[in-house]
Amino acid sequence: EVKPYNMCWLEYTDLSKYKNKYIKVFENVVVLGGNELNLPLKELKNFLTFSLNIKPKIFKNTLVKGRNYVLIGRLIEIKKIFKESERFEKLLNDEGFIIKRIDIDGNKVLIITAKSYNGIVYGIFNLIERLKRGEDIENIDIVSNPSLRFRMLNHWDNLDGSIERGYAGKSIFFRENKILINERTKDYARLLSSIGVNGVVINNVNVKKKEVELITPSYLKKIGELSKIFSAYGIKIYLSINFASPIYLGGLNTADPLDKRVAVWWKAKVDEIYEYVPDFGGFLVKADSEFNPGPHMYGRTHADGANMLGEALESYGGFVIWRAFVYNCLQDWRDTNTDRAKAAYENFKPLDGKFSENVIVQIKYGPMDFQVREPVNPLFGGLEHTNQILELQITQEYTGQQIHLCYLGTLWKEVLDFDTYAKGEGSKVKEILKGNVFDLKNNGMAGVSNVGDDINWTGHDLAQANLYTFGALSWNPDERIEEVVKRWIELTFGDNEKVIKNISYMLLSSHKAYEKYTTPLGLGWMVNPGHHYGPNPEGYEYSKWGTYHRANYEAIGVDRSSRGTGYTLQYHSPWREIYDNIETCPEELLLFFHRVPYNYKLKSGKTLIQTYYDLHFEGVEEAEEIRKKWIELKGEIEDKIYERVLNRLDIQIEHAKEWRDVINTYFFRRTGIPDEKGRKIYP
Ligand code: GCU
Repeated sequence: EVKPYNMCWLEYTDLSKYKNKYIKVFENVVVLGGNELNLPLKELKNFLTFSLNIKPKIFKNTLVKGRNYVLIGRLIEIKKIFKESERFEKLLNDEGFIIKRIDIDGNKVLIITAKSYNGIVYGIFNLIERLKRGEDIENIDIVSNPSLRFRMLNHWDNLDGSIERGYAGKSIFFRENKILINERTKDYARLLSSIGVNGVVINNVNVKKKEVELITPSYLKKIGELSKIFSAYGIKIYLSINFASPIYLGGLNTADPLDKRVAVWWKAKVDEIYEYVPDFGGFLVKADSEFNPGPHMYGRTHADGANMLGEALESYGGFVIWRAFVYNCLQDWRDTNTDRAKAAYENFKPLDGKFSENVIVQIKYGPMDFQVREPVNPLFGGLEHTNQILELQITQEYTGQQIHLCYLGTLWKEVLDFDTYAKGEGSKVKEILKGNVFDLKNNGMAGVSNVGDDINWTGHDLAQANLYTFGALSWNPDERIEEVVKRWIELTFGDNEKVIKNISYMLLSSHKAYEKYTTPLGLGWMVNPGHHYGPNPEGYEYSKWGTYHRANYEAIGVDRSSRGTGYTLQYHSPWREIYDNIETCPEELLLFFHRVPYNYKLKSGKTLIQTYYDLHFEGVEEAEEIRKKWIELKGEIEDKIYERVLNRLDIQIEHAKEWRDVINTYFFRRTGIPDEKGRKIYP
């Protein structure tokens, strides 16, 4: 069957070369359990048939004797038959799985088991991954548990089919104010489940007119259908809501969270939602942020708002995910006291400990807005008594909009590995999310989706790697990024050494290159207003969004030290001292924390301005190198994909040069200081 889109890392490629290796293992498959296991079984069967040309015999709830077989079932079933599997109990968390080959009565049995149905699904997909890569499974012995409880995708999809910050076509969930359900819906659930994702918010955090109605019966019926499809793959559906829904939908004259009528309205609303969508996950809320209504309108706090919703959801086991992306978006640029970077912490730190158990605060990785580099948001480590989700942007709003190759796994890894020192050394972001630093387990990661209805889902074929990596890191943030990259390449392009080597290079060097030719040293922004693509050094300099660099003829950057806006004080020691001092501040964040004269000497001995020129030339050279690595793969990659990617790399080089020239020119014209190396900088 030919689909109008590819299946990314799940594509059934021809792997008959491994047939002999695996045939003895998969001749017989025994399934213990009810019909719900048909779906994971089918995943395995389809893969074996289409990729390996192996057609296993299936036995339901009957054991086979005297033969090797595969045994799939929940631990509760398996335990009845094999006493020794009782010790698996302690090894597994709720969603983890075990894949293990053992000897039973002289036969070899490959067991795939888990406590929950979800775990079985993950186990099957994991096994498929291993087979796809030709791994030896003769003596396989795997225990794998997700480290984070919430592993979510956030879609910024609108009912009309458009996607806010989407660069891969139209929404796969909505079209012309209707909910779309088709073959692709299921395939999307398969893709997400295969990387361990367990929650999807299907609509944009900005909930406008029509979208407010998503929580009414006219849409809930379809959402129920959608949810069934996703539930079968272990994924819960969540909705973004408008905090003022009681006014828009309920005819009330207030949405005050402490007004009884409002709470009663939400409770009834939630009851109704669960009638239609029994497996509903909960709400994502962008409140008091960028013109979205919220509790502040009534003099109430975020905790008042979130807890009221939390109470309505509690009896169903639903969650409220409340975004910390709150700041004054109407700043006067002449006001130098307000610092947007401080806003999230100022808003949420005082509420630490005030949120209910089923409320989670979702925090963007940095204090601003998904720039190519920002310091880690000080709310990580700042909040000690609040469930937290780390919000990342998989969609490349500020990182090249899927025209540029910009692999984000390297950046995400740095964020996860950042040590907040909240409880001394070792209080890394990833340890906080795992629940190892504070005694809170309802944490996780959310990625703003880069998916649309393009043939390859993500616009740029290689941007599939970002989606894959998001899943991998939210399952296991300790994984080495080089490993994740290698696995993705093998699953997507096969095991050709050169392909692995070159694409690894391309992915692993792409973020650095993008950073260099755009706004390195922590400067950020300098993009065109509105759509955020391409250079515009003063695009946001005199507007109300609070994102200023305040360049003049002498210096650039904002002094966020204790002598300036005081942002550095939101960090624990030693970071607050390290960042506070221009001498010790990591140079990649220099212009985020400090106002720096152009002739300031960096550790290399070079001035700031010369460094800026050099980085921009280097960045373009690195992008050209990345393109070269792709060209070397001509003939090794399917033509259509090869051409599609090459086409984007060509545009990337052109646009990288534009970035280089516009930014360098801006610096040159501000300062009159020429490039020491005499390269062309446009006057
Ligand atoms: C960014 C983005 C918006 C989005 C907002 C958010 O500012 O440009 O499109 O709505 O983030 O995360 O809420």
